[in-house]
Amino acid sequence: MEQWVELTGRVVIVTGGSNGIGRAICDSLSELGARVINADITPPVKEGGAEYLPCDITKKGETERLVEDVFGRYGRIDALVNNAGVNRARLLVDTKEPGSKYELSETDYEAMMSVNVKSAVFMAQAVARRMIPCKKGVIINMSSTSGARGSAGQCIYAATKAALSSFTKSIALELGKYGIRVVAVTPGINEKTAMTSADAYMDALAYTRNTTKEAIDSNYEASIPLGRLGRLREVADVVCYLISDRASYITGTVLNVSGGKTTD
Ligand SMILES: NC(=O)c1ccc[n+]([C@@H]2O[C@H](COP(=O)([O-])OP(=O)(O)OC[C@H]3O[C@@H](n4cnc5c(N)ncnc54)[C@H](O)[C@@H]3O)[C@@H](O)[C@H]2O)c1
Repeated sequence: MEQWVELTGRVVIVTGGSNGIGRAICDSLSELGARVINADITPPVKEGGAEYLPCDITKKGETERLVEDVFGRYGRIDALVNNAGVNRARLLVDTKEPGSKYELSETDYEAMMSVNVKSAVFMAQAVARRMIPCKKGVIINMSSTSGARGSAGQCIYAATKAALSSFTKSIALELGKYGIRVVAVTPGINEKTAMTSADAYMDALAYTRNTTKEAIDSNYEASIPLGRLGRLREVADVVCYLISDRASYITGTVLNVSGGKTTD
Protein backbone atom coordinates (compact mmCIF):
# COMPACT_ATOMS: atom_id res chain seq x y z
CA MET A 1 0.00 0.00 0.00
CA GLU A 2 1.32 3.45 -0.87
CA GLN A 3 2.22 5.66 2.09
CA TRP A 4 0.59 9.09 2.37
CA VAL A 5 4.03 10.63 2.82
CA GLU A 6 6.29 9.00 0.25
CA LEU A 7 10.04 9.69 0.36
CA THR A 8 11.47 6.62 -1.36
CA GLY A 9 14.82 7.41 -2.99
CA ARG A 10 14.96 11.02 -1.81
CA VAL A 11 18.44 12.08 -0.74
CA VAL A 12 18.31 14.14 2.44
CA ILE A 13 21.18 15.69 4.44
CA VAL A 14 20.40 16.22 8.14
CA THR A 15 22.88 18.18 10.26
CA GLY A 16 23.26 17.14 13.88
CA GLY A 17 21.55 13.80 13.30
CA SER A 18 23.46 11.87 15.96
CA ASN A 19 21.31 13.02 18.87
CA GLY A 20 17.91 14.29 19.92
CA ILE A 21 15.60 15.83 17.37
CA GLY A 22 18.06 15.28 14.51
CA ARG A 23 18.27 11.60 15.28
CA ALA A 24 14.47 11.31 15.36
CA ILE A 25 14.35 13.09 11.98
CA CYS A 26 16.94 10.66 10.52
CA ASP A 27 14.95 7.66 11.81
CA SER A 28 11.59 8.91 10.51
CA LEU A 29 12.98 9.86 7.10
CA SER A 30 14.69 6.46 6.78
CA GLU A 31 11.47 4.65 7.68
CA LEU A 32 9.73 6.53 4.86
CA GLY A 33 12.32 5.32 2.36
CA ALA A 34 14.66 8.31 2.14
CA ARG A 35 18.43 7.94 1.82
CA VAL A 36 19.58 9.96 4.81
CA ILE A 37 23.02 11.45 5.43
CA ASN A 38 23.73 12.50 9.01
CA ALA A 39 26.34 15.29 9.03
CA ASP A 40 27.49 15.61 12.64
CA ILE A 41 30.69 16.38 14.50
CA THR A 42 29.86 13.57 16.97
CA PRO A 43 29.21 9.99 15.85
CA PRO A 44 25.78 8.52 16.61
CA VAL A 45 25.57 6.50 19.83
CA LYS A 46 23.78 3.66 18.05
CA GLU A 47 23.38 2.66 14.42
CA GLY A 48 20.28 3.86 12.65
CA GLY A 49 19.02 4.08 9.11
CA ALA A 50 21.17 7.10 8.28
CA GLU A 51 24.68 7.10 6.85
CA TYR A 52 27.03 9.02 9.15
CA LEU A 53 29.47 11.49 7.57
CA PRO A 54 31.65 13.35 10.10
CA CYS A 55 31.56 17.10 9.56
CA ASP A 56 32.16 20.24 11.57
CA ILE A 57 29.43 22.29 9.97
CA THR A 58 30.89 25.56 11.25
CA LYS A 59 33.71 25.14 8.71
CA LYS A 60 32.49 26.31 5.29
CA GLY A 61 35.12 24.20 3.48
CA GLU A 62 33.98 21.04 5.28
CA THR A 63 30.33 21.62 4.43
CA GLU A 64 31.16 22.23 0.77
CA ARG A 65 33.16 18.99 0.63
CA LEU A 66 30.30 17.12 2.29
CA VAL A 67 27.73 18.43 -0.18
CA GLU A 68 29.95 17.60 -3.17
CA ASP A 69 30.64 14.13 -1.78
CA VAL A 70 26.91 13.42 -1.41
CA PHE A 71 26.06 14.88 -4.82
CA GLY A 72 28.96 13.00 -6.45
CA ARG A 73 27.71 9.70 -5.08
CA TYR A 74 23.97 10.05 -5.57
CA GLY A 75 23.67 12.66 -8.33
CA ARG A 76 20.97 14.53 -6.44
CA ILE A 77 20.17 16.25 -3.18
CA ASP A 78 16.46 16.53 -2.55
CA ALA A 79 16.44 18.12 0.87
CA LEU A 80 18.59 19.65 3.59
CA VAL A 81 17.57 19.82 7.25
CA ASN A 82 19.63 22.43 9.11
CA ASN A 83 18.99 20.89 12.51
CA ALA A 84 22.26 21.11 14.48
CA GLY A 85 22.28 23.72 17.20
CA VAL A 86 23.95 24.65 20.47
CA ASN A 87 22.50 26.50 23.41
CA ARG A 88 24.49 28.09 26.23
CA ALA A 89 22.24 29.84 28.73
CA ARG A 90 23.94 33.13 29.62
CA LEU A 91 22.96 36.45 31.20
CA LEU A 92 23.77 39.59 29.27
CA VAL A 93 25.00 41.09 32.56
CA ASP A 94 25.50 39.01 35.71
CA THR A 95 24.78 41.42 38.55
CA LYS A 96 25.18 38.71 41.24
CA GLU A 97 28.69 37.80 40.18
CA PRO A 98 29.99 40.14 37.47
CA GLY A 99 32.07 38.37 34.84
CA SER A 100 31.02 34.87 36.02
CA LYS A 101 30.97 31.95 33.60
CA TYR A 102 27.26 32.55 33.19
CA GLU A 103 27.74 36.06 31.81
CA LEU A 104 27.79 36.15 28.02
CA SER A 105 31.33 35.99 26.62
CA GLU A 106 32.63 36.49 23.11
CA THR A 107 33.36 32.75 22.94
CA ASP A 108 29.77 31.87 23.87
CA TYR A 109 28.48 34.33 21.31
CA GLU A 110 30.67 32.95 18.54
CA ALA A 111 29.89 29.31 19.40
CA MET A 112 26.14 29.86 19.12
CA MET A 113 26.30 32.10 16.06
CA SER A 114 28.60 29.76 14.15
CA VAL A 115 26.70 26.51 14.76
CA ASN A 116 23.17 27.90 14.71
CA VAL A 117 23.42 30.54 11.97
CA LYS A 118 26.65 30.46 9.93
CA SER A 119 26.52 26.70 9.30
CA ALA A 120 22.90 26.84 8.17
CA VAL A 121 23.66 29.69 5.77
CA PHE A 122 26.59 27.98 4.05
CA MET A 123 24.99 24.54 4.04
CA ALA A 124 21.97 26.12 2.33
CA GLN A 125 24.22 27.93 -0.15
CA ALA A 126 26.14 24.78 -1.12
CA VAL A 127 22.99 22.67 -1.41
CA ALA A 128 21.00 25.34 -3.29
CA ARG A 129 23.75 25.49 -5.94
CA ARG A 130 23.04 21.82 -6.66
CA MET A 131 19.24 22.11 -6.38
CA ILE A 132 18.84 25.10 -8.73
CA PRO A 133 19.63 23.22 -11.98
CA CYS A 134 17.19 20.47 -10.88
CA LYS A 135 14.44 23.08 -10.28
CA LYS A 136 13.42 21.25 -7.11
CA GLY A 137 14.43 20.95 -3.49
CA VAL A 138 13.48 21.61 0.12
CA ILE A 139 15.45 23.33 2.88
CA ILE A 140 14.22 23.07 6.48
CA ASN A 141 15.72 25.26 9.21
CA MET A 142 15.31 24.23 12.85
CA SER A 143 14.37 27.38 14.69
CA SER A 144 12.72 27.64 18.13
CA THR A 145 9.75 29.34 19.73
CA SER A 146 12.29 31.41 21.67
CA GLY A 147 13.23 33.14 18.40
CA ALA A 148 9.90 34.93 18.13
CA ARG A 149 9.24 35.30 21.86
CA GLY A 150 12.67 35.96 23.34
CA SER A 151 13.94 34.00 26.33
CA ALA A 152 15.43 35.27 29.58
CA GLY A 153 18.93 33.90 30.01
CA GLN A 154 19.12 32.87 26.35
CA CYS A 155 19.39 36.18 24.50
CA ILE A 156 21.87 34.98 21.89
CA TYR A 157 20.37 31.52 21.45
CA ALA A 158 16.97 33.17 20.83
CA ALA A 159 18.58 35.72 18.50
CA THR A 160 20.16 32.94 16.43
CA LYS A 161 16.75 31.33 16.07
CA ALA A 162 15.11 34.61 15.02
CA ALA A 163 17.91 34.95 12.46
CA LEU A 164 17.12 31.48 11.09
CA SER A 165 13.42 32.26 10.79
CA SER A 166 14.21 35.50 8.95
CA PHE A 167 16.83 33.80 6.73
CA THR A 168 14.15 31.24 5.82
CA LYS A 169 11.79 33.94 4.57
CA SER A 170 14.41 35.76 2.50
CA ILE A 171 15.87 32.74 0.75
CA ALA A 172 12.38 31.40 0.06
CA LEU A 173 11.82 34.64 -1.88
CA GLU A 174 15.06 34.11 -3.81
CA LEU A 175 14.71 30.38 -4.47
CA GLY A 176 10.98 30.02 -5.19
CA LYS A 177 11.50 30.57 -8.90
CA TYR A 178 13.73 27.48 -8.95
CA GLY A 179 11.08 25.30 -7.34
CA ILE A 180 12.96 25.23 -4.03
CA ARG A 181 10.87 25.48 -0.88
CA VAL A 182 12.30 26.77 2.42
CA VAL A 183 10.49 26.36 5.73
CA ALA A 184 11.46 26.94 9.38
CA VAL A 185 10.14 24.72 12.17
CA THR A 186 9.86 25.96 15.75
CA PRO A 187 9.73 23.29 18.43
CA GLY A 188 8.85 24.42 21.95
CA ILE A 189 9.72 22.27 24.97
CA ASN A 190 10.35 18.62 24.24
CA GLU A 191 11.34 15.31 25.76
CA LYS A 192 14.94 15.60 26.92
CA THR A 193 17.69 15.56 24.32
CA ALA A 194 21.47 15.66 24.68
CA MET A 195 21.13 19.44 24.65
CA THR A 196 18.43 19.81 27.28
CA SER A 197 19.55 17.01 29.58
CA ALA A 198 23.15 18.21 29.86
CA ASP A 199 24.02 19.33 33.40
CA ALA A 200 26.02 22.26 32.03
CA TYR A 201 22.94 23.53 30.19
CA MET A 202 20.45 23.00 33.04
CA ASP A 203 22.81 24.47 35.67
CA ALA A 204 23.31 27.55 33.51
CA LEU A 205 19.59 27.92 32.82
CA ALA A 206 18.76 27.62 36.53
CA TYR A 207 21.42 30.21 37.42
CA THR A 208 20.28 32.70 34.80
CA ARG A 209 16.66 32.35 35.94
CA ASN A 210 17.52 32.44 39.63
CA THR A 211 15.81 29.12 40.27
CA THR A 212 16.58 25.38 40.44
CA LYS A 213 16.77 22.74 37.72
CA GLU A 214 13.95 20.83 39.42
CA ALA A 215 11.70 23.91 39.45
CA ILE A 216 12.35 24.54 35.77
CA ASP A 217 11.43 20.96 34.84
CA SER A 218 8.33 20.86 37.04
CA ASN A 219 6.92 24.08 35.58
CA TYR A 220 7.17 23.10 31.94
CA GLU A 221 3.97 21.09 31.49
CA ALA A 222 1.73 23.71 33.07
CA SER A 223 2.98 26.24 30.52
CA ILE A 224 1.91 24.10 27.56
CA PRO A 225 -1.78 24.13 26.54
CA LEU A 226 -1.63 20.47 25.44
CA GLY A 227 -0.34 19.69 28.94
CA ARG A 228 2.73 17.68 28.00
CA LEU A 229 6.18 17.98 26.48
CA GLY A 230 6.61 17.52 22.74
CA ARG A 231 7.81 14.14 21.50
CA LEU A 232 10.88 14.19 19.27
CA ARG A 233 8.95 12.10 16.75
CA GLU A 234 6.30 14.81 16.55
CA VAL A 235 8.89 17.31 15.33
CA ALA A 236 10.29 14.67 12.96
CA ASP A 237 6.83 13.96 11.52
CA VAL A 238 6.42 17.63 10.62
CA VAL A 239 9.82 17.69 8.92
CA CYS A 240 8.98 14.55 6.89
CA TYR A 241 5.69 16.07 5.78
CA LEU A 242 7.36 19.37 4.81
CA ILE A 243 9.99 17.55 2.74
CA SER A 244 7.35 15.48 0.95
CA ASP A 245 5.34 16.57 -2.07
CA ARG A 246 2.27 16.73 0.21
CA ALA A 247 3.63 20.13 1.29
CA SER A 248 4.25 21.30 -2.27
CA TYR A 249 2.68 24.74 -1.75
CA ILE A 250 4.34 25.59 1.58
CA THR A 251 7.36 27.89 1.57
CA GLY A 252 8.71 31.01 3.24
CA THR A 253 6.96 30.38 6.51
CA VAL A 254 7.62 29.29 10.08
CA LEU A 255 5.70 26.30 11.41
CA ASN A 256 5.11 26.24 15.14
CA VAL A 257 5.25 22.75 16.74
CA SER A 258 5.00 23.67 20.42
CA GLY A 259 1.71 22.19 21.66
CA GLY A 260 0.34 25.73 21.79
CA LYS A 261 3.04 27.07 24.13
CA THR A 262 3.44 30.02 21.81
CA THR A 263 1.28 31.07 18.92
CA ASP A 264 3.54 33.54 17.13
N1 LIG B 1 15.45 20.10 22.42
C1 LIG B 1 14.52 21.04 22.40
O1 LIG B 1 13.62 21.04 23.23
C2 LIG B 1 14.54 22.10 21.30
C3 LIG B 1 13.57 23.09 21.30
C4 LIG B 1 13.56 24.05 20.29
C5 LIG B 1 14.52 23.99 19.29
N2 LIG B 1 15.47 23.02 19.31
C6 LIG B 1 16.47 23.00 18.23
O2 LIG B 1 16.46 21.71 17.64
C7 LIG B 1 17.77 21.38 17.18
C8 LIG B 1 18.21 20.06 17.77
O3 LIG B 1 18.22 20.18 19.19
P1 LIG B 1 18.52 18.95 20.15
O4 LIG B 1 17.92 19.29 21.45
O5 LIG B 1 18.15 17.68 19.48
O6 LIG B 1 20.12 19.07 20.27
P2 LIG B 1 21.23 17.98 20.66
O7 LIG B 1 22.28 18.71 21.40
O8 LIG B 1 20.60 16.82 21.33
O9 LIG B 1 21.80 17.56 19.24
C9 LIG B 1 22.46 18.49 18.43
C10 LIG B 1 23.45 17.78 17.53
O10 LIG B 1 24.18 18.80 16.80
C11 LIG B 1 25.52 18.37 16.70
N3 LIG B 1 26.45 19.49 16.48
C12 LIG B 1 26.76 20.48 17.35
N4 LIG B 1 27.75 21.25 16.85
C13 LIG B 1 28.04 20.75 15.63
C14 LIG B 1 28.99 21.11 14.62
N5 LIG B 1 29.83 22.14 14.78
N6 LIG B 1 29.05 20.36 13.49
C15 LIG B 1 28.21 19.30 13.33
N7 LIG B 1 27.29 18.91 14.25
C16 LIG B 1 27.22 19.64 15.39
C17 LIG B 1 25.80 17.67 18.02
O11 LIG B 1 26.91 16.80 17.95
C18 LIG B 1 24.48 16.93 18.27
O12 LIG B 1 24.49 15.62 17.78
C19 LIG B 1 18.68 22.56 17.59
O13 LIG B 1 18.81 23.45 16.50
C20 LIG B 1 17.90 23.20 18.72
O14 LIG B 1 18.22 24.56 18.85
C21 LIG B 1 15.51 22.07 20.30
